[in-house]
Amino acid sequence: MPDTASAQEQGLSWRRRGAFRPGDIVQLTDPRGRMHTITLEAGTVFHTHRGQLPHDDLIGLPEGSVVTSSNTTPYLALRPLLDDFVLSMPRGAQVIYPKDAARIVGLLNLGPGARVAEAGVGSGAMTCSLLRSVGDEGRLYSYERRPEFAEIAVANVTRWFGARPASWSLTIGDLAETLAETDLDAVILDMLAPWECVDAVARSLAPGGVFVGYLATTTQMSRLVETLRVSGEWTEPRAEETMMRTWHLEGLAVRPDHRMNGHTGFLVTSRRLAPGAVLPARRRRPAPGAYGEDYTGPGSGSTEAAED
Ligand SMILES: C[S@@+](CC[C@H](N)C(=O)[O-])C[C@H]1O[C@@H](n2cnc3c(N)ncnc32)[C@H](O)[C@@H]1O
Repeated sequence: MPDTASAQEQGLSWRRRGAFRPGDIVQLTDPRGRMHTITLEAGTVFHTHRGQLPHDDLIGLPEGSVVTSSNTTPYLALRPLLDDFVLSMPRGAQVIYPKDAARIVGLLNLGPGARVAEAGVGSGAMTCSLLRSVGDEGRLYSYERRPEFAEIAVANVTRWFGARPASWSLTIGDLAETLAETDLDAVILDMLAPWECVDAVARSLAPGGVFVGYLATTTQMSRLVETLRVSGEWTEPRAEETMMRTWHLEGLAVRPDHRMNGHTGFLVTSRRLAPGAVLPARRRRPAPGAYGEDYTGPGSGSTEAAED
């Protein structure tokens, strides 16, 4: 396997089609829907409590084939989607879930050629989505202060892409002290105290560039939002969260699944102002009762713009 390679040279695993070959990542799904992710290697055997499956039985088969283990359990074999891969890969730190990663890529307005920075890298889940979005023409600058997590991330990213992508650079260190790039299109922070990095991010983003903070709690969200406001270098922050409800599909029992992942994180978005620009003061409605007026219903004390 090459140390680094462009997507074209390495034939990224997610772009591979055709018969399975050694080095492919394969996702095996048993009749109960349980998934196992393996990397094909001639002469190796996959062992489960449902019997053994030689990798050689898979090599040469078309993707989407069904193979049978030594105890006759059938397994569906597919190359994994990135969404499945990130949930199956080894973790150091908690990963950003696919529903949030997809939204972050959208909020950051990413596409081929974009220049982006992220911290922390953790297990490398967000890193894979960012690298795929910016493509060979783009560049991802990742920062992680814990070397042991960076090591896990490098292994996961390398496994997913088949080699370490040439468009990726990884710095071990605190982003606030080591972020060196300038004129970036976008920055995503997923860490405990992103407000400590706001000045560094402001120096690195091009005017109009997008910043997204991924936060687990409302107190973190509030602190980040206030830091952005006080600095005066940012557009008014926006906040959101993404809820995803999966569905049970069986005969006439078509309904939402009983269990739902209730909370992952909040997303705060803001854009870098031009140097010296001053954000026009926002007109806000007074809080209910502030001037003795009657309460007019939910939203009457909203801090949303009330230009109507
Ligand atoms: C929740 S994990 C990131 C998970 C990652 N986004 C993913 O999807 O796999 C948070 C990481 O941020 C790192 N971190 C925290 N503060 C940092 C900083 N100021 N600079 C660089 N890394 C930082 C931590 O060491 C940790 O690995």
